[in-house]
Amino acid sequence: YVIGIDIGTSGLKSIIVSSDGEVVKSDKVKYDTVHEKTGYSEMNPEEWYEAAAGSLGRLLGTEYGSKVTGISFSGQMHGLVIVDKDGEVIRPAILWNDTRTSEECKEIIENIGLDNLLGQVQNTVLEGFTLSKLMWVKKYEPENYAKIDKFMMPKDYVIYRLTGNVYAEPSDAAGTVMFDVKKGEWSETLMEQLGIDKKICPEVIPSHGKSGVLDKELFNLEQEITLYQGGADNACGALGAGITDSSRQLVSIGTSGVVLSSEEEDDFQNDGSVHYFNHCVSGQNYVMGVTLSAGYSLAWLKKTLADEQTFAEFMEDAETSPLGAKGLLYTPFLLGERTPHNDAEIRGSFIGLDANTNTADMKRAVIEGITFSLNESIEIMRKNGKEISKIVSIGGGAGNRQWLQMQADIFDAEIMTRTEEQGPAYGAAMIAAVGEEWFADFSVITEKWIDYKETFTPIAENKEQYRKLFELYREVYEKTQGLTA
Ligand code: XUL
Repeated sequence: YVIGIDIGTSGLKSIIVSSDGEVVKSDKVKYDTVHEKTGYSEMNPEEWYEAAAGSLGRLLGTEYGSKVTGISFSGQMHGLVIVDKDGEVIRPAILWNDTRTSEECKEIIENIGLDNLLGQVQNTVLEGFTLSKLMWVKKYEPENYAKIDKFMMPKDYVIYRLTGNVYAEPSDAAGTVMFDVKKGEWSETLMEQLGIDKKICPEVIPSHGKSGVLDKELFNLEQEITLYQGGADNACGALGAGITDSSRQLVSIGTSGVVLSSEEEDDFQNDGSVHYFNHCVSGQNYVMGVTLSAGYSLAWLKKTLADEQTFAEFMEDAETSPLGAKGLLYTPFLLGERTPHNDAEIRGSFIGLDANTNTADMKRAVIEGITFSLNESIEIMRKNGKEISKIVSIGGGAGNRQWLQMQADIFDAEIMTRTEEQGPAYGAAMIAAVGEEWFADFSVITEKWIDYKETFTPIAENKEQYRKLFELYREVYEKTQGLTA
């Protein structure tokens, strides 16, 4: 057996998986992020370690515990953890959803030049990414910055606490935007230009590379358990959905929404509108577009209009509104938007409110708006020559048949769902299984472990109508930009 652990933003999920891919036990821990000021999002990294160690203790205490031989990790991306020369945490971790660094992003781009940055790390810098957080600490907390011996991403910190070893792996290193995705190494030139000492970067090993072993005494173990470095949550989510090559893409609708396409070739030219990161499958990179308020938009509307309804009732209500929500368009920019606008200031809108608009229309418009926003990412990938005909849909957005059909109609692609979806923890378990050499590589394990339940095919008439609405949706960004009161 292997264990996969996903260290998420609001909680941690661990699963024990058998050698034929069956999840036999799972465990969850909730924790809270701290928002000291507007736009701040922090956490004490020790809480992740305690959650992970507690969860591991419980899973290893079950009847399967003595047969577990490998563990790997998936983690929320981009968070900055800094430790001093004694390995002590210097300040709370600054998380991916912390947006305090707009100024630092501007400064980095002014300093380095966007083309130069794209040339070196194949991504632009955003508030969410580690580099801007590091530059913020350098500017506002020079005494903390001076103490840095190593920086780490969240899951890498947990592994360090469990094994004593400090490593990174490519999929999370890419999300720092200090890592040359195409070369697969830290970008020394960029760091020199920004005055960052390369010594603070951890050594990079493959996702299925060995990080160390679990302390036998601490966990009361008979057997030796090897830890493998794992991957970024989006990479692990993709792996767990069977995305190991470019034959199918991923749409994941959770709080935020993600469209992800794995690439065999390394010829993708990012203009900065999407992310281009290393996959946890060695040799693969992926292109990713992000809608910041996907499920978050739904949760916001539900809380605002229909707090008493269940999610199922809310969705049923939305279905009573016709395609196009009687002319109501919604843009999901509640927290600004990433793809394709990279605009932290823009805010959402309802366009076309009519005396006839009812709450069902508003619900439908929100679901359509989220899906249109994700389609912007798909359009960018198609423009870059990617053929997209099969998409695996995961997350909360895959929990409703009408929404799945809508995804097929708007994305103009077949939508597939997983038989038993476990999220990024399953991808992490797959990394451990490959690390343990149960399988020759990731395509073999995918063949053996991943199956799909249902396929939704685009309906021609709907597709046509959505195409027209999508063109209108696209106009709203520019027309509402700068309109915020
Ligand atoms: C990706 C991103 C989020 C986090 C969430 O760029 O910021 O998806 O990985 O955990």
